[in-house]
Amino acid sequence: MKFFLDTANIEEIRQSVSLGLVDGITTNPSLVAKEGRDLEEVAKEICDLVDGPVSLEVVSTSAPEIIEEARRLAKIHKNVVVKIPMIREGLKALHVVAQEGIRVNVTLIFSANQALLAAKNGAVIVSPFVGRLDDISSSGMELISDIIQIYNNYQFKTEVLVASIRSPIHVLEAAKIGAHIATLPSKVLEQLLKHPLTDIGLEKFLADWEKQNQLVHS
Ligand code: E4P
Repeated sequence: MKFFLDTANIEEIRQSVSLGLVDGITTNPSLVAKEGRDLEEVAKEICDLVDGPVSLEVVSTSAPEIIEEARRLAKIHKNVVVKIPMIREGLKALHVVAQEGIRVNVTLIFSANQALLAAKNGAVIVSPFVGRLDDISSSGMELISDIIQIYNNYQFKTEVLVASIRSPIHVLEAAKIGAHIATLPSKVLEQLLKHPLTDIGLEKFLADWEKQNQLVHS
């Protein structure tokens, strides 16, 4: 399973990259706006830090404008994957830019049928939002499972990127289903490596070691 980091914050990216676990980055307009910086400038810095796909999202909503914006974003760096929202105009634009070789991540996916259409039109990645579905008492993981089944049925190469992850349980369930990618807030990435019994176990090992050393040297 590939791990992407879901942030546009350079310091967070730098810290998580040092763990050696980051395969790519996803951003969205809200995450970039939070940084209060120019998208292109941030994007270039991210691409210098991470050797993997970096999703940058368009903010246009008509097909001709999405196409133009997608072409512009794709030119920023070879690692850029253009994020296009799952709307009618987005699907039209996807059909055009995918044929030009621009890699597209179709975002704001909330149904398996939307994922099917995105794959048919050439998306390399789809982003179903599990947390936001759970928030409205719908099952985010059931959606992931349905999409994986459909893609397997028709041998689509499109990767399923589990987005809107809120907890380690989301990561565990997505991995059990066989989702290709999970995009994580850095807080969840940190939570994945922790277990209280690991901390208690290490504390005991080091205390026993110290006690024995004191006996030997006394
Ligand atoms: C990533 O591609 C998505 O934009 C992001 O995971 C959405 O997460 P949220 O629902 O916590 O905003």
